[in-house]
Amino acid sequence: MTPSVLEAISTQIANEFGASFSYLAMAAWCEHHKFMGCGHWLRQQSAEEHGHGLKLFNFVLARNHHVKLEAIAKPTSDFSSVVDVFERALAQEQEVSRQIDGLYELAFKEKVFAAMAELQWFITEQVEEEKTVREIVGKFHMVKDDPASLLDLDRELGGRAAEPAGPTGT
Ligand SMILES: [Fe+2]
Ligand SMILES: [Fe+2]
Repeated sequence: MTPSVLEAISTQIANEFGASFSYLAMAAWCEHHKFMGCGHWLRQQSAEEHGHGLKLFNFVLARNHHVKLEAIAKPTSDFSSVVDVFERALAQEQEVSRQIDGLYELAFKEKVFAAMAELQWFITEQVEEEKTVREIVGKFHMVKDDPASLLDLDRELGGRAAEPAGPTGT
């Protein structure tokens, strides 16, 4: 692995753990405002992002490099509404997609083929994550402020099952 790809992956490890922390902050806001189903969904998502960080962490170690962890950005804790939470979640996923694309481009330029193979998984994952969150935002826009529909949607999100196996490459 080249030094610049190694550095960029280290940054992405912090980005994934940052996304995990950010989802946890979103879960806290939702549960404080009694959207318990949303809180459940966001806690699961936080755990998934933790898994993404670990997957890259494991990859660097498997390539016989030392992982030097970077600082995690402080997440936003203030939201204006539950829709705002999920709109920001979508923006966050779109930002992560851009980060992964940039990382893949760098690995391609530097001909780090093992990193390209590893990052393929993340590119596919981002398509799925953006799609999922975009659908949730769409549903919130549909129900608007109707309390009964909001409760239904909250219940639906509360039914999210845990991932069967962690995508940590272990
Ligand atoms: Fe992720
Ligand atoms: Fe994500």
